[in-house]
Amino acid sequence: MHKLVINGPCQLSGETWVSGAKNSALPILASTILCEPGSVIHRIPHLKDVTSMVSLLSAMGMVFSVDDKLTLTVEKSAIESTTAPSDLVKSMRASILILGPMVSRYGEVVIDLPGGCAIGPRPINFHLNMMEKLGASISFNGDSVHIKADKLVGAEIVFERETVTGTENTLMAAACAEGRTVIKNAAREPEVVDLADFLNKCGAKISGAGTSQIVIDGVEKLSNCEHTVVPDRIEAGTLLIAGAMTQGNVEVLDCNPGHLSSVLKLLTEAGAKLDVKDSSVKVSMSSRPKPVSLSTSVYPGVPTDLQAQFIAMNAIAEGESVVQETIFENRFMHVSELKRMGAKVNIDRDTAYVTGVDGLHASVVKATDLRASAALIMAALCAKGTSVLEDIYHIDRGYANIEEKLSSLGAHIRRHPNYMVL
Ligand code: EPU
Repeated sequence: MHKLVINGPCQLSGETWVSGAKNSALPILASTILCEPGSVIHRIPHLKDVTSMVSLLSAMGMVFSVDDKLTLTVEKSAIESTTAPSDLVKSMRASILILGPMVSRYGEVVIDLPGGCAIGPRPINFHLNMMEKLGASISFNGDSVHIKADKLVGAEIVFERETVTGTENTLMAAACAEGRTVIKNAAREPEVVDLADFLNKCGAKISGAGTSQIVIDGVEKLSNCEHTVVPDRIEAGTLLIAGAMTQGNVEVLDCNPGHLSSVLKLLTEAGAKLDVKDSSVKVSMSSRPKPVSLSTSVYPGVPTDLQAQFIAMNAIAEGESVVQETIFENRFMHVSELKRMGAKVNIDRDTAYVTGVDGLHASVVKATDLRASAALIMAALCAKGTSVLEDIYHIDRGYANIEEKLSSLGAHIRRHPNYMVL
């Protein structure tokens, strides 16, 4: 199993770029089930989760081609099987995104329940309740769920709490449903807006994406379009925090600073100097970061997907901070690994109390989930000595070319097939 070997400490310096957003590319790919073939989608991030989604849709009958500039073309969108292969579904929770478009276009889908995952139980009740509201029937058989509908009919969907993929599934289920669907308490994340833009370019009638009320007027069918996936704001945030933590000087290109306001505010609070342009942000830091206390929340608040990275920065900050996780129940798995590197963090239920130390030490640590892996890499960049990050398949799920990008900024990081610590 490959490991990442990182020699620290280092100061990151130079410029790097951001890939297309994973959490936009995944629903957009799923939504092509609804559309005629021929869509051309630029800036598809080269990631394990994206490959898993393409494999899942391909196993069900679709055909895609991808060129060396990471532009994907949908060659065939017709599905031959309404049963999603369970090994592919189990490899990625986002496979739940095929539920809305499958039932809308093919009248049914049989899909395994995603079950628990490292960051909490992550149920799918919001998705299932929404499908029932639009007229589908649901039955369970062991580990799988069968969702069926002769036709979907628009309805009012009121989400008990904002849900990103739940809102996206609703957009896809309702785009070709009969009549009007109104989503209340909709997720406002930029990835939801990107999916709505893609569907609208294909002929859907969706208004209000990016606000808490979205209105979808069902159309008969969707055609195809050319689209560019929005920049990954979580990758951009991760690189900026890494630049600040290492007291470096890093310019992150091809990002959308408008999607990063909560992150930029915290970086400024930490003492970083920022130079924000239309599609780039430069961060410079000349001292240890000041601690930043935060509570994760839905967009435009501080994303849960950057909580681990902010804890890593606070771990070496000059003072104490309090980080509350309000989105997922069990998203502090990185903390025990950070402690191996000398971090001082105490967890009490949904809150981490961090006392910054003036240096971390290298260690062998395990990646427990995608964002935890990023936080551990960042800590290793600041720690003295050679750190080894195990179970790095998590990082490949969501960060494209991570070693390449960090190496170009001066990090000593390499992938090793069988690195042994003696
Ligand atoms: N929830 C339910 N029932 C549901 C759905 C969600 O109780 O049916 C709960 C969740 O357990 C959670 C809250 O509602 O407590 C919000 O979860 P949400 O549905 O918004 O999460 P998601 O759609 O499953 C997406 C991203 C996550 C990101 C969250 C929050 C994708 C593919 N995934 O997940 O991304 O953390 O929104 O922003 O878009 C990541 O990229 O590392 C990642 C985990």
